[in-house]
Amino acid sequence: MPDHTESSARPEFAPDAFDPRTDAVMQCPYPFFDRMRAEDPVHRMDGALVGRPGEQVYAVTRHDLVSQVLMDWHRYSSRFGSPGSAPPAHLMAELREIAAGGWRRPPTMLTADPPVHTRYRKLVSKAFTPSRVASMAPTIQRICDDLIAGFPPSGPVDFLTSFCVPIPTRTIAAALGVPEERFADFKRWADASVASIGRQLDDDGWLAAGRGVVELQQYFAGEFVARNIEPRDDLLTDLLRARLYADDGIEEGVDGEPLSMAELLSIVQQLQVAGSETTASLIADAVVLLADHPDEWDRIAGESARATAVVEECLRLASPNQGMFRVVNHDTELGGTAIPQGSTMWVLFGAANRDESAYPHASTFDPGREHVAQHLAFGRGPHYCIGAPLARLEATIALRTLARAFSRVEPVDPESLRYAPSAILRGLEHLDVRLTPRA
Ligand code: HEM
Repeated sequence: MPDHTESSARPEFAPDAFDPRTDAVMQCPYPFFDRMRAEDPVHRMDGALVGRPGEQVYAVTRHDLVSQVLMDWHRYSSRFGSPGSAPPAHLMAELREIAAGGWRRPPTMLTADPPVHTRYRKLVSKAFTPSRVASMAPTIQRICDDLIAGFPPSGPVDFLTSFCVPIPTRTIAAALGVPEERFADFKRWADASVASIGRQLDDDGWLAAGRGVVELQQYFAGEFVARNIEPRDDLLTDLLRARLYADDGIEEGVDGEPLSMAELLSIVQQLQVAGSETTASLIADAVVLLADHPDEWDRIAGESARATAVVEECLRLASPNQGMFRVVNHDTELGGTAIPQGSTMWVLFGAANRDESAYPHASTFDPGREHVAQHLAFGRGPHYCIGAPLARLEATIALRTLARAFSRVEPVDPESLRYAPSAILRGLEHLDVRLTPRA
């Protein structure tokens, strides 16, 4: 079986020739990252290679340097625009016309810096509370049970479409109060929102993505208006009601100011986008990893602390969000490399998570390792993933439910596993599994 998540041989390449668009890198970037970390940890490359034509991009692979960039928002700004690739010039007018049917898209959390970011982050934290996340456990459990009940009685299961993808989509849909009959639309809108992230699209793909985002905005704008008239005990109502006051540590003048409709819609879109594909990829990669570790599979069925540790180790090794961008505010130096103002940093969580100096035997799956949760799969610093508790909860419930129902869940053809082409979101394209029910 090929090793899809653990790095092995050193690739024959000069770091200068690193091209993340090639199939070799897409399928297993880790040997490339190992070499870059050792020889060129702040690697200068042409932005076109990561969908940012015209920009000078520096790929950061060492754990200490990645952490440094993430913590220093004064120097390394999150105002990098969109994480998606730029649409082709000939479609701009048509895409603008489509977007005019919706709301403007203000930079809220992911692409804002403090203090603007702080305001959004605090407002969203008032609605997306630990107790609201914890209260979703029964919903997630029901989703997992229903999906397993729907598996075919025999033969292989298309595991992405039957299990991994619906879990986060239905969970966040339930959190946002989307009724079941709109789940298929919600999934389509989520796909539209992530379509261009780290990927190249054709013209139809760009137009479909543009329309999908506007549909999402129109649907949720209607829901916010309805919640305004008739509040409910849900996330949308909490977002609508969220206010900050002086004792929340915000600047003067924005006391009690609610989120505007455009801001609310931007936040809903971010919650939907950031949590769907990433969590689905985590569950899929975890199952592939665990197929090689049957002892761990059996342990997670019984020990909840072990299930938690397994999820953390899968997060480190899989890093479903491989990297994000930052823009350099002024001329600087990182790891001995001079970086001019205006350059883009490509901060590689996936590479930092394999750094031997931070994680001994970094490519070995070891849920028993010390400080197993101290990885960078959710980032670090002001933009640390706000959905981390939800992603952890979903993955833990999903894996434990599977492990209790099945003694083995194995890829039918491990040799054929392939990752979808994206420089940012790493996830399997397809995964057929064979299930052995517990006696
Ligand atoms: C395994 C699943 C997930 C992974 C690997 C992941 C990864 C990340 C990472 C690395 C960041 C930091 C980006 C940066 O520093 O620029 C981030 C931010 C974010 N994530 Fe997640 N995420 C996951 C699940 C979720 C879920 C379930 C949600 C929400 C429902 C979510 C919502 C967000 C949001 C809104 C941000 C931006 C936060 C900010 O800028 O303050 N994520 N995520």
